[in-house]
Amino acid sequence: MALETLERARQEFLAALAEAGSDPARVETVRVRFAGRRSGLLRDLEDALKLLPREEKPSYGKALNELKKFIEERLAAAHRAAADASKRGEVADVTLPGRRPALGAYHPVTLVRREIEEIFLRMGYSVADGPEAEDDWHNFEALNFPPDHPARDTQDTFFLKGGMLLRTHTSPVQIRTMETTPPPIRVIIPGRVYRCDSDLRHTPMFHQVEGLVVDEGITFGHLKATLEAFVHVLFDPEMGVRFRPSFFPFTEPSAEVDITCVFCRGKGCAVCTGSGWMEILGAGMVDPRVFRFCNVDPARYTGFAFGCGLDRVAMLKYGIPDLRMQFSGDERLLRQFEGIRR
Ligand code: FA5
Ligand code: MG
Repeated sequence: MALETLERARQEFLAALAEAGSDPARVETVRVRFAGRRSGLLRDLEDALKLLPREEKPSYGKALNELKKFIEERLAAAHRAAADASKRGEVADVTLPGRRPALGAYHPVTLVRREIEEIFLRMGYSVADGPEAEDDWHNFEALNFPPDHPARDTQDTFFLKGGMLLRTHTSPVQIRTMETTPPPIRVIIPGRVYRCDSDLRHTPMFHQVEGLVVDEGITFGHLKATLEAFVHVLFDPEMGVRFRPSFFPFTEPSAEVDITCVFCRGKGCAVCTGSGWMEILGAGMVDPRVFRFCNVDPARYTGFAFGCGLDRVAMLKYGIPDLRMQFSGDERLLRQFEGIRR
């Protein structure tokens, strides 16, 4: 009789365990019901041993021990299976929508750089680059900034130990190009530049794209038409473009080019400091002294150059009201560019 009770308990246990499947919480409920220390069924069956007649005790005790071992082993296996299953996600809600992996986004400056490269490649230019740590010759002297000349003050230069500096503009690559390549030259040079400067429209690290054209018979008319075409393709054909007389030691005559402020449509706001315009580039006809520094014959060749702030252009093109936001690393800004490819 007593042995039959044990066999019934074994069958009941197996049925309960099968029903619990690989759900860890339900396996635990089965454990408490059968092997729980205080009120589990095994505990009751142990208590029953004491009440048995003497002669039945040995066989019952032996069978009970076997049952205990059996239940413990099965429970341990079920717990392991449940843990594995939850790792495999078998207990996950399969009706939930999947999680998309983040694809990342191109930075607005990268988007604008690529778009500008494309525009100039179509006009027959090639793309070059140069070092960010420069020497005085390329960043200043060969660009006609004599030593100790006040024009150098406008450049807010970061000097490095040992006489080098962080280039303050991409113009030194004009010199490097002319030193190594005979005219005709038609090149753009995008890159990072550095100045000790910070406000709504200035950051200590920013990007420029330089342009240089050297050939026989190049005039200011070519410069003007090229830059107007550039702005009209990059923004829209209605975009206001303004040439303002300016000064750069390495160009003569020189101009700065402004476009309509996109934040106020020309009315005047905090971003454009009330002027309705935003400066995007400096430009001019290559100064004959610069040609001579690079061994290009100024009697034969003329040329124009320009240097455009990529971050300013990105700011205007994508309506980013503070230039510094582009370098804050805030993903909320970057995520807005997801899916835009160039
Ligand atoms: C220059 O850097 C000249 N090298 C440009 C040039 C090239 C003139 C070739 C003639 C011939 P400027 O300092 O104005 O010029 O800077 C050019 C552009 O860079 C500015 O119009 C502006 O768009 C951008 N820029 C200048 N400083 C900063 C800054 N701190 N942060 C972001 N953009 C800047
Ligand atoms: Mg300027």
